[in-house]
Amino acid sequence: MLYTTLKHIHLLTVAVTILLFLFRAALMLWWPNQLRKRWIRVVPHINDTVLLASAIGLMLTIGQYPLVNHWLTAKLMALLAYILLGSLALHRGRSRRIRLLSLVGALVSLGYLLAVARTHSPTLGLF
Ligand code: HEM
Repeated sequence: MLYTTLKHIHLLTVAVTILLFLFRAALMLWWPNQLRKRWIRVVPHINDTVLLASAIGLMLTIGQYPLVNHWLTAKLMALLAYILLGSLALHRGRSRRIRLLSLVGALVSLGYLLAVARTHSPTLGLF
């Protein structure tokens, strides 16, 4: 019951974080000034806090942890890469080229994150 609730919250906030990231990426490419709007800065933080809380809840419920279970270590590393590259893509990248390259890197990290989540394997079950 608790597990199912946490999983639903996790999946919902994962969907929202992806949609918000794609939306902000579109703003960065075509309407960069809009990125400064207050709600666009605040809402992703609130969602990501709930996402992380649900991730911690799920870890405790299934008794698996980063540094112990390798798929969760890989997930955490991919999350850090996604946050770093995402921040470069949306805010800190000094040129359009850097922001575009960072955007591609952030999307690759996100794809890897989703694949690790599905397979429970850092190598995506390939070997
Ligand atoms: C943007 C970041 C994240 C994304 C896109 C994501 C994605 C997902 C997805 C799609 C699932 C469902 C997998 C399935 O049912 O087959 C899942 C489950 C899970 N995630 Fe995440 N996740 C993220 C962050 C995290 C973080 C940071 C952690 C903890 C280090 C974490 C821990 C878990 C756990 C423990 C499960 C449950 C696995 C199970 O039911 O066996 N997630 N995640």
